[in-house]
Amino acid sequence: MTEIASSLTRAVARQYDLFQTSLERMGKERKFLNYGFTVTGDEPDDPIDERQQRLCLEVFKAADIGPDHLVVDVGFGSGEQDFLFARTSEFRQLIGFNISDRQVRYATDRARGEKLDRKLTFCLGEAELLPGIADASVDRLLAIECAFYFDRPRFYRRAAQVLKPGGLLVAADIALSDRLAFLTRREDLGRVGTASENRREWERSFRTRSVRHINRQTRPGVQMSVWRILKTAPLARFTAAERREWLKLAYYSQLVALGLSLELVTYDLLVLEKSVLEKKE
Ligand SMILES: C[S@@+](CC[C@H](N)C(=O)[O-])C[C@H]1O[C@@H](n2cnc3c(N)ncnc32)[C@H](O)[C@@H]1O
Repeated sequence: MTEIASSLTRAVARQYDLFQTSLERMGKERKFLNYGFTVTGDEPDDPIDERQQRLCLEVFKAADIGPDHLVVDVGFGSGEQDFLFARTSEFRQLIGFNISDRQVRYATDRARGEKLDRKLTFCLGEAELLPGIADASVDRLLAIECAFYFDRPRFYRRAAQVLKPGGLLVAADIALSDRLAFLTRREDLGRVGTASENRREWERSFRTRSVRHINRQTRPGVQMSVWRILKTAPLARFTAAERREWLKLAYYSQLVALGLSLELVTYDLLVLEKSVLEKKE
């Protein structure tokens, strides 16, 4: 991968390298890193990784993937979602992009070990660049709980470029409500964006097929997921940097949970279709 130009993106890459090393050390079997999808009736002590898996399955269902499809998955974490995808769906090939070197190495080794390396390819690369992907070659592009890290205008443009006409970008995405627009002036929240501003941006290249508001289904997991993981984590064996990242994540997750309850934060499942005509300024 060429050097990452943005210091924000470099910081996120470092953060996820640390999450990955600690997840490996704690031996968490299913290495999802998302807030999960809780359905009414789930017991409060239902395993968090069941909920995390369910969020991915919701995204796959919304993406309506066919057996001959080329799928690109950006921000794939440890790749757990793509191994799940390979077990549960028919598709031609999946190419993943992630900025965390450690996560790419882990997923690549696992694909080789499970003899899935012809079907699943994991690359070090930014979602905004998708290096090596030909224009109009991709059927589906997935982004599960990661687009808030991206430079959104560049990402939407590049996604539209690589998708075939009629191809879909499907995202499980978090944004601020319009009432919190003033917070997007902060450097760390600028990329999260507001629901309306993000929509204006993607509608330059995409037609919005559906926006499913899933605050109610994601909030319980936001509140509990990081604590559940930390409860079983051998914190004493973590490095100071790893501990710091997990504590930061735990803190921000509680803020996100509160925001979701008050509808100050939105969690949506988006299905966007590549427009044939791109909107001009
Ligand atoms: C919250 S995790 C979600 C992981 C996974 N999708 C899941 O649901 O378990 C965010 C992921 O996005 C990746 N990421 C962040 N910025 C990125 C970028 N600009 N391009 C590609 N991946 C990125 C991180 O390295 C991390 O793997």
